[in-house]
Amino acid sequence: MNAQQGTASDEGRTKLTRTPEWLALAKHREQFGRTHLRRLFEEDPGRGTGYTLRAGDLHVDYSKHLVTDETLALLRELASATGVAALREAMFNGEKINTTEGRAVLHTALRAPRDAVVEVDGENVVPAVHEVLDKMAAFADQVRSGEWTGFTGARIRNVVNIGIGGSDLGPAMAYEALRAFSDRDLTLRFVSNVDGADLHEAVRDLDPAETLFIIASKTFTTIETITNATSARGWLLDGLGGDQAAVARHFVALSTNAEKVTDFGIDPANMFEFWDWVGGRYSFDSAIGLSLMIAIGPDAFRELLGGFEAMDTHFRTAPPEENVPLLLGLLGVWYIGFFDAQSHAVLPYSHYLSRFTAYLQQLDMESNGKSVDRDGQPVEWQTGPVVWGTPGTNGQHAYYQLIHQGTRVIPADFIGFANPLPELPPRLAAQHDLLMANFFAQTQALAFGKTADEVRAEGTPEELVPHKTFRGNHPTTTVLAADLTPAVLGQLIALYEHKVFVQGAVWNIDSFDQWGVELGKVLAKRIEPALTEGADVPGLDPSTTALVATYRRLRGR
Ligand code: F6P
Repeated sequence: MNAQQGTASDEGRTKLTRTPEWLALAKHREQFGRTHLRRLFEEDPGRGTGYTLRAGDLHVDYSKHLVTDETLALLRELASATGVAALREAMFNGEKINTTEGRAVLHTALRAPRDAVVEVDGENVVPAVHEVLDKMAAFADQVRSGEWTGFTGARIRNVVNIGIGGSDLGPAMAYEALRAFSDRDLTLRFVSNVDGADLHEAVRDLDPAETLFIIASKTFTTIETITNATSARGWLLDGLGGDQAAVARHFVALSTNAEKVTDFGIDPANMFEFWDWVGGRYSFDSAIGLSLMIAIGPDAFRELLGGFEAMDTHFRTAPPEENVPLLLGLLGVWYIGFFDAQSHAVLPYSHYLSRFTAYLQQLDMESNGKSVDRDGQPVEWQTGPVVWGTPGTNGQHAYYQLIHQGTRVIPADFIGFANPLPELPPRLAAQHDLLMANFFAQTQALAFGKTADEVRAEGTPEELVPHKTFRGNHPTTTVLAADLTPAVLGQLIALYEHKVFVQGAVWNIDSFDQWGVELGKVLAKRIEPALTEGADVPGLDPSTTALVATYRRLRGR
């Protein structure tokens, strides 16, 4: 290689798009042109079985992607040139790969077996992880058995998690996903929005004597969470006669910040700890999962962790050709870098996964929504996509039209299960085949479409032919598992965590900081006095000044 071309692993990393590996892909893309999946399957009917992989309990079919063996080889070369494997090892080994915050990135240590050794600054963190897990399990058992009672001695029947972002989305998503495994006598609610309506609706029908609040905040300074927690404390004390001692029986905290937890009035004995090497959006299998553990029980929670761990091992040890997170990450790099794909749809065909894509939005977009590289240089390539989607079949009757016949390339993941959950009564379980028929039909239609000749052959009037033609060639991944269990959910989440990691590594961005959320927070603090007291806010722009004035007028101030 000539020195001017640079390599992806030296200072020329910022010039990803000028590396030989990227240029080779660009050339390949030109040759690929408009090659249709119909042709790829004609040339190689074995694709349907050959382009599939297994990771844990997940069967992953990538045959309906706009790739050939050559594309995949070139993408793997790009991964190798950009040092994905080395960064992966650095992450698993506790190196401080979150450079802008000077932190290790060790969510994988949260599910490491008891006897594993993972060191941060020379200290093995695994014993502390299991100590907290054991403490969570003991507490969850106490709540589930009724041994932990409220201030009046009443049994806890309601658990309200107050948190936002990574301190909400994970447990809220997983509670929905694993409802069938949960204690149905417990009511779980999740409050995140600083809009008072959220807390109001969550508690309006609850009895404070039977309600446990879990205040989940890594920093314990997040304004939404602290505001809601303060209001929840007021609601509780109003309902229980005002004795402050009630707080200790009805509030627990999940945090890294013991000092702030104590300042809030929560007994530090009722704090479940985690650490700065757990990123907020990667924290759901830490103490942040306590509400879920109470709902499904410690055993099922450990099965979930086992699922995460199985995918970690797969990611770390499977060869590149068989490595599913690597493959999915690279496919995304291919579409974003060479097909101008701007978004990525995740479409679960399970009602229980109704919050799954919302969870992935933070995981992916807060991680890879970056425009400078790890050295602070502007990137010259596109980074993370807009992630979106809702469960099928609802989306089919809403936005699938655009995926089928719109102008954009929208790679999509279809996630489905062979079996309905066992608790469904036979009449409802029988609907599962119809659900899954839709699942398979959609990826078929997206890939192969319907040609104008096929439309004509149905006797369609000529003027309608273009409208009824489906060009097809829309790339999809199909992820199929036998059942939605805690272990499978863990595998799915870890699969996406590692996919996001791979993309961040290739794009040479820090996937683990989130400076982009800071400015809005600072400005909101500055603007609030203008709304409440009409205070002058220095530096407020004319548009916002006028909006604030209108707000105050409409608010009768
Ligand atoms: O939105 C920014 C963010 O820091 C997320 O990364 C995090 O998950 C969320 O806020 C909540 O933070 P905390 O758990 O500290 O309250």
